[in-house]
Amino acid sequence: MTRIELAIGDITAERVDAIVNAANSSLLGGGGVDGAIHRAGGPEILEECRTLRATTFRAGLPTGEAVATGAGRLAARWVIHAVGPVWPGPGAEADARRELLRAAYRNSLAVAARLGAASLAFPAISAGVYGWPADDAAMVALETAAGSDAAPGLVRFVLFSERMHEEFRAAADRLGFDVD
Ligand code: APR
Repeated sequence: MTRIELAIGDITAERVDAIVNAANSSLLGGGGVDGAIHRAGGPEILEECRTLRATTFRAGLPTGEAVATGAGRLAARWVIHAVGPVWPGPGAEADARRELLRAAYRNSLAVAARLGAASLAFPAISAGVYGWPADDAAMVALETAAGSDAAPGLVRFVLFSERMHEEFRAAADRLGFDVD
């Protein structure tokens, strides 16, 4: 049984086994969560990402995919880098891309399960620079976590603003999910 929690804060401070990075396909860093994790975690994380680019993901990590590295100086043991889709605007393309956002969560949960992580923290993937509407991003995030049999005992959504926290709370209410 998975316990789902919502929190407002900085994901780099999370004391869980693994934190998920809202990365881009280059795996070489960026702004937002990506920038915060690399800043707080230190150069080891980027070094591992560079190795992944030189070996397993020579063309970059595809959108919807997830891969783990160590967590450097962070309290977590692992960082799971997941690439969400860019919001294309409403319409058929958004429906197709939504499945990639779902995959980013689903694949992060599968990587966490393979690692044996007992607790996992997600940011609101794609809901920042990538422009995904917060209410839709929250629904996809919660549906995927609650519907996954690979989810660890504890899944935390660490939101960076009161507004995003409210969006997740409202999505949980709409879905009838009991979140803490
Ligand atoms: N802790 C938790 N959440 C955070 C943090 C943080 N330290 N910093 C930002 N966020 C929130 C944002 O406010 C947003 O709600 O994470 C959510 C995702 O935003 P982004 O980090 O911009 O990620 P995304 O929208 O998926 O865009 C990914 O942005 O930073 C670049 O390299 C990254 O190119 C990639 C793109």
